[in-house]
Amino acid sequence: MKDFYWENNIYNKGLNLNKYPFDNVVSFAFRNRNSINPKTVLDIGCGAGNNAWFLAKEGFNVFGIDGSVSAINYCRNRFVSENLKGNFIVGNFKHLPFKDGFFDLAIDRASLTCCNLQDCQIIVNEINRTLKTKGKFFFNCYSADHSSMLSGKQNQDGTWSSMKKGSIAGVENIYFFKKEEISDLFKAGWNILSLVHKNHTNLLEDDSKHSEWEVIVEKL
Ligand SMILES: C[S@@+](CC[C@H](N)C(=O)[O-])C[C@H]1O[C@@H](n2cnc3c(N)ncnc32)[C@H](O)[C@@H]1O
Repeated sequence: MKDFYWENNIYNKGLNLNKYPFDNVVSFAFRNRNSINPKTVLDIGCGAGNNAWFLAKEGFNVFGIDGSVSAINYCRNRFVSENLKGNFIVGNFKHLPFKDGFFDLAIDRASLTCCNLQDCQIIVNEINRTLKTKGKFFFNCYSADHSSMLSGKQNQDGTWSSMKKGSIAGVENIYFFKKEEISDLFKAGWNILSLVHKNHTNLLEDDSKHSEWEVIVEKL
């Protein structure tokens, strides 16, 4: 991807190389594992492969896609050095290079939220296409209640940049979701199984709020 923020400003500088999985991914995986028939899972915007690493260790058949060459090289090297199996692809996840009905599960830990709402709809449709019927998608994005949002400037496409405060200060082009936008994203072809809004208030930092959505949907 040309002029890709995450490649040029983050991963090729050795930043954001998360080592361990996020707790919400761990919970989702444990609720949906099947040790007898390993499930095939897509990690959308897999970054440094921290979530994929955990899934592979737990016996899932793991695929990851990310627009950053450096992040994908990092994933591949980590998997080789730890003798783990995984399939990693460099690409824009607006077009998923997988056939229809290929995956049992898909996860997105804070990657679609790096795109504008219009693109999110395209990506959600792609995820729907590549999941099996009854396949589940775990979607984790930032909420419009997040304190970082109003400390920044809104871009023409609705994302926010130049954020000065809160837990995601310094990150560029973030979309903050309202509840009705999430319902709209999943109105065709999905059943919403769980919709959780999480708010953490930092009392030592001007009561700043870290607000995010955790959504679990099932393909109809
Ligand atoms: C906040 S990071 C999250 C990384 C990882 N999911 C994690 O939990 O640590 C967002 C990721 O989305 C990727 N990304 C953003 N937009 C993308 C796009 N259109 N196509 C592919 N990857 C994209 C970035 O390269 C980055 O790795």
